[in-house]
Amino acid sequence: MNALTLFLPCAAGVEGYLAAEIERITGLPQASMLASRGGVELPGSWRDAMKLNLHSRLSQRVLVRLAYQPYRSEHDVYDIASEVAWEIWFSPRQTIKVEVTAQHSPLQSLNFAGLRVKDAICDRLRDKRGERPSVDTLRPDVRIFTHLTHDACTVYIDTSGEPLFKRGWREDKGDAPLKETLAAAMIAATGWTGEPGPDGQPVPLYDPCCGSGTVLIEAAQMALNIAPGRQRRFGFEKLLPFQPHVWQALKQEAQDAELPLPAQPFIFGSDIAFRMVDFARRNAERAGVMQALELRGGDALQRMPPTTSPGVLLLNPPYGERIAAAGVAGQRAES
Ligand SMILES: C[S@@+](CC[C@H](N)C(=O)[O-])C[C@H]1O[C@@H](n2cnc3c(N)ncnc32)[C@H](O)[C@@H]1O
Repeated sequence: MNALTLFLPCAAGVEGYLAAEIERITGLPQASMLASRGGVELPGSWRDAMKLNLHSRLSQRVLVRLAYQPYRSEHDVYDIASEVAWEIWFSPRQTIKVEVTAQHSPLQSLNFAGLRVKDAICDRLRDKRGERPSVDTLRPDVRIFTHLTHDACTVYIDTSGEPLFKRGWREDKGDAPLKETLAAAMIAATGWTGEPGPDGQPVPLYDPCCGSGTVLIEAAQMALNIAPGRQRRFGFEKLLPFQPHVWQALKQEAQDAELPLPAQPFIFGSDIAFRMVDFARRNAERAGVMQALELRGGDALQRMPPTTSPGVLLLNPPYGERIAAAGVAGQRAES
């Protein structure tokens, strides 16, 4: 399990930030990675896979590549999936789900390709372990992803389970919440890292349309070095190579590296809807960062800056699709 090929999918445009994040987490130089559209591929160990799940803010999942071969038909897809040693990853007592994505695939039906992958897995486990696993499309123990291009078939086993944007602290959603991975990408794009400025003081960050607090909570966790995955479970915990003691040690290492909560808030949020401010507060409390935050109600176009120190202003404003601008901006839009 020490010479794996990992693939971390991310939103288009985030690849460069993700490669830098992977370098920070694993120590692997970016030159050893392949950033392609929608993800980053890298050589890594099983331990790296667990560590990336725990610490990555930008990737959607951590996948292990198990096959990468040319194909022309569904028959080839079946053969490629049959050659994977599924029996070292999970047992037939576990449930599976196969998902297929494609770009310019010559195949008529992706559903049928997915069925062929599922058949190959079930047939192989029946031959090797005497039983076929069942499919569970809602809460599978094991997720398998197949990606088809015009001539190549790649098969991955997932190590994340629920997608990584689910950090485990959100209960209050609001009307148009950002995905946590996207909020983290927005913060990365500003260059704000949460590290102190040249004067040794925290660099403030302000979201004046904070909604349920996604940007603020991501930022606060970054500044306090809190691992985004510390409050959730992962798919790898159900796979056969899982070693609980290695995982516990990684979690302990992450907990030991957390910074103390600040005496003064340095991350500011406000929203015109008091209900949203309340959601943000409750989410921040669950995420363990409320002490770093100052939250207020108010119209973004009327509030005074929350601090005189230079910092970053970052917002995901209402744009009239899922939610309309309120307050002064809303009146202007109407007139
Ligand atoms: C797209 S949502 C932000 C969602 C947020 N990023 C999250 O993850 O929950 C836009 C937010 O802007 C707020 N809003 C609308 N008009 C506003 C105004 N004039 N001043 C401040 N906030 C406003 C809405 O109440 C809403 O919470």
